[in-house]
Amino acid sequence: MPEAVRFGLIGGGLMGREFASAVARWLHLIDHPALPRIVAVCDTDPAVLDWYRTRLPAPLHTTTDHRDLLARADVDAVYCAVPHNLHESVFTDVLEAGKHLLGEKPFGIDLAANGAILDAVRRHPELVVRCSSEIPFFPGAYRIAGWVEEGRFGRILEVEAGMWHSSDLDPSKPINWKRRAATNGEYGCMGDLGMHVVHLPFRFGWFPRTVRALLSNIVTERPDAEGRMVPCDTWDNAILACEVATGEQRFPMLLSTKRIAPGHANTWYIRVIGSRFSAQFSTRSPKRLLTLDYTPGGEQAWAALDAPYRSAYPTVSGAIFEFGFSDAILQMIAAFCDEVVSGDHMRQPFRCATPEEARRSHLLFTAALRSQARSEVVSLEEAAGTVSSGAGGRRAP
Ligand SMILES: NC(=O)c1ccc[n+]([C@@H]2O[C@H](COP(=O)([O-])OP(=O)(O)OC[C@H]3O[C@@H](n4cnc5c(N)ncnc54)[C@H](O)[C@@H]3O)[C@@H](O)[C@H]2O)c1
Repeated sequence: MPEAVRFGLIGGGLMGREFASAVARWLHLIDHPALPRIVAVCDTDPAVLDWYRTRLPAPLHTTTDHRDLLARADVDAVYCAVPHNLHESVFTDVLEAGKHLLGEKPFGIDLAANGAILDAVRRHPELVVRCSSEIPFFPGAYRIAGWVEEGRFGRILEVEAGMWHSSDLDPSKPINWKRRAATNGEYGCMGDLGMHVVHLPFRFGWFPRTVRALLSNIVTERPDAEGRMVPCDTWDNAILACEVATGEQRFPMLLSTKRIAPGHANTWYIRVIGSRFSAQFSTRSPKRLLTLDYTPGGEQAWAALDAPYRSAYPTVSGAIFEFGFSDAILQMIAAFCDEVVSGDHMRQPFRCATPEEARRSHLLFTAALRSQARSEVVSLEEAAGTVSSGAGGRRAP
C-alpha cells in the first residue's frame, strides 16, 4: 500500500494550480510508494481559494493565513509557491513548524534570504527540503543526467544551458510582481529562470569558479493595472560566461536566462560536448535527443533519437507518446514524495534540487550582479565569503 503524504499548499496561483493538477493525476504513475493528498490550501486572495474549494475533494481546509495551515497536525508536507520576497519568512515558518518542504525557486529573494532559509534547514535535518525544478525530468534531460553519471562523455570540452521566454518582447504586457525588483529580486530573470538552468550542471558537480555576466534591461517601463507607465526595474536577459574547475578538469560553461528571446515560449536546453561523447536536448523538440559518439580516428556524426516517454517513475503512458511540462511537474512531485516516504531507498536515484544547489545558484547570481556592475570577471569565492557553509536538508547527496 502506498504511504499517504498529506500536503498543505501555500500560494495558489499559477504554480499552485499546476501542483494541484499533478496531484489529481496521481493515478498516471504505476505503483508509486507514496499517495499525496492536498488537505489544506492557503492564499491571501480569497478568490483563489474558491478555485480549490470547487475542485479538490473534501475535507479541505482553506485559509488566508499560512500560520493557520502550518498549525494543523494533519499537514505532513508543504508545497510553497509565493512571490520571492516572501520565501524567507514563509519557508522558515514551514520548517519551524516541522513540515517537509518543496519550495519554489529561487529559494529566497537574495543571498541573505537564502542564507536564513538554509539556517532553518540546518536546524531541521529530520525534514526533506527540496527546491522545485522540474525540467530535468524530461526524458531527454534525464537520459543526459544518466550518461554524465556513467562518465560517458570523456573529457568535458564545453557546456551550454539556458532557459528562454519571449512574451516580454511585447512592451504593452502589464507589469506584475515578477518584473519588479522589490518582489522578484535584484537577480531579475536569473532569479526567475536560473535554477532551471543550473540544476543539472550543479548536480554533475560543475560549479563555476568565475563568471563574467552580461545583463540586459531591455524594457524599462510597463503599464500597471490602471494603464500608467511604471518602472520595470528587473534584468530581462542574462548571459553568464563561466569557467568550471572540477578538480580533474576545467572547461567553459555558457549559461543564459532570457525573458526576451523572440520566438521562444519556454525553451530549456542543455548541450554537453565531450571528447568521447556529446549530447544535446531542448524542450523545443521534446522528443528529440541528439548524440555524437566518437572513437579516436572514427567518423563524427550527430544522431537524432526520438526519446521514448520514460522518466524517473513509470507511468501508464505508452513509450511513443510525447512528454510535456505537466508530466515533468508530476515526476518532480513523485521524486519529492518518494524521498519523504523512502528516504535513502528511493525507487530511482535522481532527487529534486537540494537546498545546497539553490545556495550555489545564489552565489552564482550574486557574483553575476557584481560582474555586471564592475564589467569584469568575478570569482564565486568572493560571493561565498559573505555566507556561512551550506546545508543539504535530510539525506542530501
Ligand atoms: N517551477 C516552475 O516552473 C515555476 C514557474 C513559474 C513560477 N515559479 C515560482 O513559483 C512561485 C510563485 O510563482 P507563480 O507564478 O505561481 O505566481 P502567482 O503570482 O501566479 O501566484 C502566487 C500566489 O501567491 C499568493 N500569495 C501572495 N502572498 C501570499 C501569502 N503571504 N500567503 C499565501 N499566498 C500568498 C498570491 O495571491 C498568488 O495567488 C515563485 O517562486 C516563482 O518563481 C516556478
